[in-house]
Amino acid sequence: MVCLGNICRSPLAHGVMKHKIKAEGLDWQVDSAGTAGYHIGKSPDHRSIAVAKKYGVDIATQRARQFKIADFENFDYIYVMDEQNYEDVIMMARTPQEKAKVRLFVLESRVIDPYYDDTLFEPVFQMITTQCAKLLTSLKNENR
Ligand code: 4NP
Repeated sequence: MVCLGNICRSPLAHGVMKHKIKAEGLDWQVDSAGTAGYHIGKSPDHRSIAVAKKYGVDIATQRARQFKIADFENFDYIYVMDEQNYEDVIMMARTPQEKAKVRLFVLESRVIDPYYDDTLFEPVFQMITTQCAKLLTSLKNENR
């Protein structure tokens, strides 16, 4: 799960997906990263921690890291939150196979950046949760 800072959106997608994977008893790995390095080592934004906690998802122990080339090798799918993240990650891909791993988290749409608007954390959380449920279903079908 990739966004710009790895403190608002992708930690939520990471946490919610991890929660659902565990609930389903699957052994899939999920992680998150940011295309930018401004927040490396930081906890998620307190507003993301709070909205996740409200719905029973603990993301407080996550720490921000920057997306790296090795992620193309370590993961089967790379989900990006918006078109800019898509451009930034695609630029780092070295092969068509690596490019093909990169997908918009919400098909043909984006998860808006809530960083500058406190009121957006709730709808962003809801959108991410809805999308994680869809993604889990489609990935289970893809990997059957
Ligand atoms: P994120 O949100 O990409 O969802 O983690 C942002 C976090 C920090 C900044 C921008 C977006 N920033 O400019 O510091």
